[in-house]
Amino acid sequence: MNILLLGSGGREHALAWKVAQSPLCDQLYIAPGNAGTSQIGKNLAIGVSDFEAQDRAVEEHNIQMIIVGPEQPLVDGVYDYFSAKGIPVFGPSKAAAELEGSKDYSKKFMQKYGIPTAAYASFDQSELNQALEYLEGQSYPLVVKASGLAAGKGVLICETKEEAILAVQGMLSGSSFGEAGNTIVIEEFLKGIEISIFVLTDGKDYVLLPSAKDYKRIGEGDTGLNTGGMGAISPVPFADESFIKEVEELIVKPTMKGIREEQLDYKGFIFIGLMIVDGKAYVLEYNVRMGDPETEVVIPRLQSDLLDLILKAQKGELAGSNVEVDARTCATVMLVSGGYPEAYQKGKQMRGMDEVKDSILFYAGTKEENGHVLTNGGRVIAITSFGDNIKEAVAQSLAEGEKISFEGKYNRNDIGFDLV
Ligand code: AMP
Ligand code: GLY
Repeated sequence: MNILLLGSGGREHALAWKVAQSPLCDQLYIAPGNAGTSQIGKNLAIGVSDFEAQDRAVEEHNIQMIIVGPEQPLVDGVYDYFSAKGIPVFGPSKAAAELEGSKDYSKKFMQKYGIPTAAYASFDQSELNQALEYLEGQSYPLVVKASGLAAGKGVLICETKEEAILAVQGMLSGSSFGEAGNTIVIEEFLKGIEISIFVLTDGKDYVLLPSAKDYKRIGEGDTGLNTGGMGAISPVPFADESFIKEVEELIVKPTMKGIREEQLDYKGFIFIGLMIVDGKAYVLEYNVRMGDPETEVVIPRLQSDLLDLILKAQKGELAGSNVEVDARTCATVMLVSGGYPEAYQKGKQMRGMDEVKDSILFYAGTKEENGHVLTNGGRVIAITSFGDNIKEAVAQSLAEGEKISFEGKYNRNDIGFDLV
């Protein structure tokens, strides 16, 4: 079958790489894609939420299935748009995508289905005074979140009440995150260790994919500004069989029950961000897609045919499916543009990718121009390696990363540091 994959990051290159290995895949199209996805399939210069242009491409290229990488088109209703035309989409419906698109909705969902999560209260623009009053009785640090999509930036950890007041005022006035801050969630601060769990579901049944941990801060030792993710590892050593079993019972199954009872049309990935506090898992957030760069370590470990699983999920026939996983450790190290996550330059020529033999390269913010690969984003390329342990896998990615050059290149050297 011909497939259209939406997105342009390292996540989409990894998904494209895996889907294209399936005997079920004929031609793969990626919209808009990047300099890596064009080596696997055909890039189409179409935006991820330009459904009308996607529809024309579906017609023109006889596309039978759409797989969605990022959250924006899901929240914008890509599933509903194409389902109405009889084109299967792997990704949740617009209503189900609110599990990521509205933190207020997802917290209510968690509460209703008894899913462990931080204590919270939510407020809308008409409730500024109540929100400020609420801050009086809280202990600090406290977490203030814009409820809507804010490109991963809408979460503020406030050390003091004064900081929280400014955060609440900024969000509810619309000045800090626009519409995303029209409703806010104020949440208890959880101190612990984070881990991400990935589920592939047809809305009734599910399979678990490998767990992963990503490293969000720009600086070594988890310091400095938040980024989209500077690297990741899978599996997470402390997430052994009994831990995963417990997470399944206390979090994954109640989540699936909620999806069924709320009658959410959900055929897609669920990415559950957890904080482990004194051995107990709390849900920080749901994402209705895979993580980036977590995908770059989760998908290479998958030995099963991903497209086969996706097709089964799409048809509601996932029951009884198994997932085969490579037992080795997988690490990815992201090379980024100097200055990221603040201002950075684009259009820098990249060299040396052909010399990388012992790692898998997943291109992110890159483009091809006149036979050259140029940087075209903050996160540029993910270098994924296997090893017997985290140290080995990361060392391999770092060694191979040395071969790639572009002006301003930066990466963290300590991915996985807290787990070895
Ligand atoms: P979210 O988008 O809700 O996952 O938040 C983004 C990041 O903020 C998380 O990955 C955590 O590192 C941090 N965070 C979110 N909520 C909390 C919380 N209640 N306590 C501590 N850290 C949090
Ligand atoms: N790496 C975190 C995310 O994809 O949201």
